[in-house]
Amino acid sequence: MISKKVDLEQLEESKRGHASTYSTRYFTESVPKYEIPESGMPANAAYQLVKDEVSLDGNPALNLSSFVTTWMEPEVDKLIMENINKNFIDHFQYPQTEVVHERVVNMLGRLFNAPEETTFTGTATIGSSEAIMLGLLAHKWTWKKRRQAGGKSYDKPNIVFGADVHVCWDKFAKYFDVEARIIPMEPDCYTITAETVAERIDDNTICVGAILGTTFTGGADPIKEISALLTEIKETKGWDIPIHVDAASGGFITPFANPELEWDFRLPQVKSINVSGHKYGLVYPGLGWLVFRDHSDPPEDLIFYVNYLGDEMPTYTLNFSKGGAMILAQYYNLLRFGREGYTGIAMNLLENARYLAKRLADSGKFEMLNAANLLPIVTAKLKEPVNYTVFDLSHKLRERGWILPAYTLPPNAESIAILRMVVKENFSRDMADMLFDDIMNACEILEGTKTKVIVPRRSVREGHHVT
Ligand SMILES: Cc1ncc(COP(=O)(O)O)c(C=O)c1O
Repeated sequence: MISKKVDLEQLEESKRGHASTYSTRYFTESVPKYEIPESGMPANAAYQLVKDEVSLDGNPALNLSSFVTTWMEPEVDKLIMENINKNFIDHFQYPQTEVVHERVVNMLGRLFNAPEETTFTGTATIGSSEAIMLGLLAHKWTWKKRRQAGGKSYDKPNIVFGADVHVCWDKFAKYFDVEARIIPMEPDCYTITAETVAERIDDNTICVGAILGTTFTGGADPIKEISALLTEIKETKGWDIPIHVDAASGGFITPFANPELEWDFRLPQVKSINVSGHKYGLVYPGLGWLVFRDHSDPPEDLIFYVNYLGDEMPTYTLNFSKGGAMILAQYYNLLRFGREGYTGIAMNLLENARYLAKRLADSGKFEMLNAANLLPIVTAKLKEPVNYTVFDLSHKLRERGWILPAYTLPPNAESIAILRMVVKENFSRDMADMLFDDIMNACEILEGTKTKVIVPRRSVREGHHVT
């Protein structure tokens, strides 16, 4: 986040700094908050101070708002700590990490059914946003080259995607000067369709964006239909428009839970895919992946070769330095779980999410927008009429520690406000029951039929469900 402007009151407060706590055990003087202290402090004091401050943060285990991994196994925690000091970009110094990176790109290329005869090409990124920008830049470049070669103008590129995209798509359009042709949502349709895409494409369209697991509802765009449309357009009009699939959250669930669903490189117009390693790839924050259908897809002009780290190295990234530990953690997960393990986890997540969705639907208080149909994401709106909103509910649930975002859908469905629950690995069936009970309690308090939260007592014979 861009740091906020510190107002005068804050400045006065900042001069006061951290007042001495723990008696005089750690500090004898206050520590400034907005300027670097003149002298340092012992390591244990700095540790205690920062640790205490961040204890105000939410509990990651109760955070159902984020898709990002909050728990990994102790063995991989150890592996991460052992490699946390490696800069991934320094391939000359850490060649084996680069070898592992290549292996993961190949594994993902195969997972996404890239044609076997091609060389699997891709890169690790800091997250899906960087992966999407790089994928779209490649398509913009290819389009420009094609236009140049045909002696045509190349000053009016456009990109077509739905209002259901993550903000990084809008960022790409703005940062890289491409007209965004945004397909609105409708109150009864939360994804794009082949027809709405057809209305907006032309020979200046650099790419169509399609989502496997939308940020807003967890739904999926009809990628197969869009690919069929673009194949037909290519044959009839000669416009070769690629699809970039944003599989940030779906790319590590659908190949395992619904392998028969065609959304990936099995579809001819799908030329690039991104997935977040740090979402259902089950790695901590700081890892995305971009995979191209073919070696020739990222234009050679966009690959930079640098020699200042000791060898001639190709790079296709926006950022240069990046930790190597998360790449190793991804490799660990792929070896540790295998296809069978990832399938088991995906099925388990879906089962728990569907269980939660069913309880919410059965309560009669919610209308489900997504009952974890494809991904373990539950989105629901309140059934009218009620004297409170999903925003009140989200706020009330914070009192019990749950973090459930409430938000309105994008235009033209902005009249709909929903709650989203992203089910992750640590969210057991028992937690689903606890959350459900807390939601019901919160609703009743807001309705005025109950005054305080009563934590339900369960039978002493009841065991934990397998998670
Ligand atoms: C569909 C989708 N695309 C892209 C992103 C951005 O991903 P990242 O946070 O890894 O940059 C998100 C994040 O939630 C997402 O849900």
